[in-house]
Amino acid sequence: MVPRAWFPESIEGSQVRLRRHIPENLERFRSWYADPEIARLARYQEAPMRQEEIERFFAARVVGPDAMAMAIHERSSDRLVGTCAFSQLDGDNGSALYHITIGEKDAWGHGFGSEATQLMLDHAFGVLGLHRIALFVFEFNERAIRAYRRCGFVVEGRSRESIFRDGRWWDEIAMSVLESDWRAGRAAAGLPVPTRDGAEVRATAATTAEPEAAERESVLQRTIRRFT
Ligand SMILES: CC(C)(COP(=O)(O)OP(=O)(O)OC[C@H]1O[C@@H](n2cnc3c(N)ncnc32)[C@H](O)[C@@H]1OP(=O)(O)O)[C@@H](O)C(=O)NCCC(=O)NCCS
Repeated sequence: MVPRAWFPESIEGSQVRLRRHIPENLERFRSWYADPEIARLARYQEAPMRQEEIERFFAARVVGPDAMAMAIHERSSDRLVGTCAFSQLDGDNGSALYHITIGEKDAWGHGFGSEATQLMLDHAFGVLGLHRIALFVFEFNERAIRAYRRCGFVVEGRSRESIFRDGRWWDEIAMSVLESDWRAGRAAAGLPVPTRDGAEVRATAATTAEPEAAERESVLQRTIRRFT
């Protein structure tokens, strides 16, 4: 397997640990993505993915050389419970899309998804130097929306009645979080806010201010050079 530079081997949270995926994780993906309830919540098509689709998805988007995915492990037991990832990295504009699936359904609602998402945002803004992370979520996926809000995502728009599910139309909601939101959230929580040269300092007005355009560009260029 080609080593991927976007993420370290692992990222530690208090309840979950994010780890690089290994080929053996395919077995759990086979069961998660074949589940109709997960398809209902996360897929545009109502039917779950076929096994060949799961294999292709896993090879390209999960363990492929350009994949920006991490496995979610419950820390107490080390059990693999899900996966989270960025896609559509846009280096020119410093943005990416975020995706998460906790595939083990008994692990829903324990805070794992929120913590994994927060760790991914910390990495995206604090290490990769990205500017904006966006996602799409179906209106009826209330658990996901709550978890995203808790991590600082805000609703920025909705595609009206674009999903037909359970016999009726639903909106698809667009949410995003900006680096400035993330900085402000950390400052409000009294957490260290990384400076743009990589050092961590306690938040001050100066460190939470929006960077100048030229500085923002140089952060992005550095990121792209470092990780590609
Ligand atoms: C969406 C998902 C990642 C959230 O992770 P999670 O670990 O289950 O969520 P958390 O426990 O961190 O947070 C869930 C929040 O929803 C609330 N919640 C839990 N069950 C709920 C339910 N049935 N309905 C509404 N809200 C619910 C919790 O109270 C919590 O909100 P709070 O922090 O304000 O109290 C996970 O449930 C999942 O992968 N689901 C299946 C696939 C999916 O929907 N992916 C997202 C596609 S956009």
